[in-house]
Amino acid sequence: MSVFLISLKSAPGGEGVLYEVMELQHLDVCTAGFVSAYEEEPWTIDRAREYLTDLFNTPRSIGFCAFENDLFVGAIICREIVGSKYNRLSIEEFFVIPIARRKGYGNALMEIVRRHVCNNGLGAITLMTERDNPAVSFYEKGGFAHVEHMAFLADQNI
Ligand SMILES: CC(C)(COP(=O)(O)OP(=O)(O)OC[C@H]1O[C@@H](n2cnc3c(N)ncnc32)[C@H](O)[C@@H]1OP(=O)(O)O)[C@@H](O)C(=O)NCCC(=O)NCCS
Repeated sequence: MSVFLISLKSAPGGEGVLYEVMELQHLDVCTAGFVSAYEEEPWTIDRAREYLTDLFNTPRSIGFCAFENDLFVGAIICREIVGSKYNRLSIEEFFVIPIARRKGYGNALMEIVRRHVCNNGLGAITLMTERDNPAVSFYEKGGFAHVEHMAFLADQNI
């Protein structure tokens, strides 16, 4: 198990708080946490596991999990995308379970990702989410900005 013991200025720290690089053994707790984080959406455990397993198995993916006294509280899963000049990190999934929100775990996981980006010479961190997702405030407060020149399209014939 790779235990990622860190001291972060923004992290809820102290006894019992752990941040680990995501591994196969985390998939069960991560799946249960994911379903509870998106309880308003109709995710089943099976579909959530399938989705997270695919993310986990994506080439160049990297994930980090947070634990508080052995309770899984959240995860961030990213994948590195090769670009013409530099590689960037795309945040593919990010959640904290409802009872652990607004305690700083989101910021802590993001800081781990930023550290990963710096340590690996990556050029940017990007993500896509729904415009009205309350998480947009989280990102804006953390220094993310909307990219005006990008367009997100879906085929209306399907
Ligand atoms: C987005 C998310 C991961 C943030 O996790 P978190 O642990 O609550 O984040 P933090 O405690 O580190 O929050 C840091 C700051 O972000 C802002 N913030 C966080 N959640 C917010 C919300 N729902 N609305 C407005 N601001 C928010 C606050 O300013 C907060 O600081 P404060 O609590 O001192 O005011 C969590 O809300 C979540 O899991 N949401 C559901 C899943 C989701 O939408 N994920 C993003 C997919 S792209």
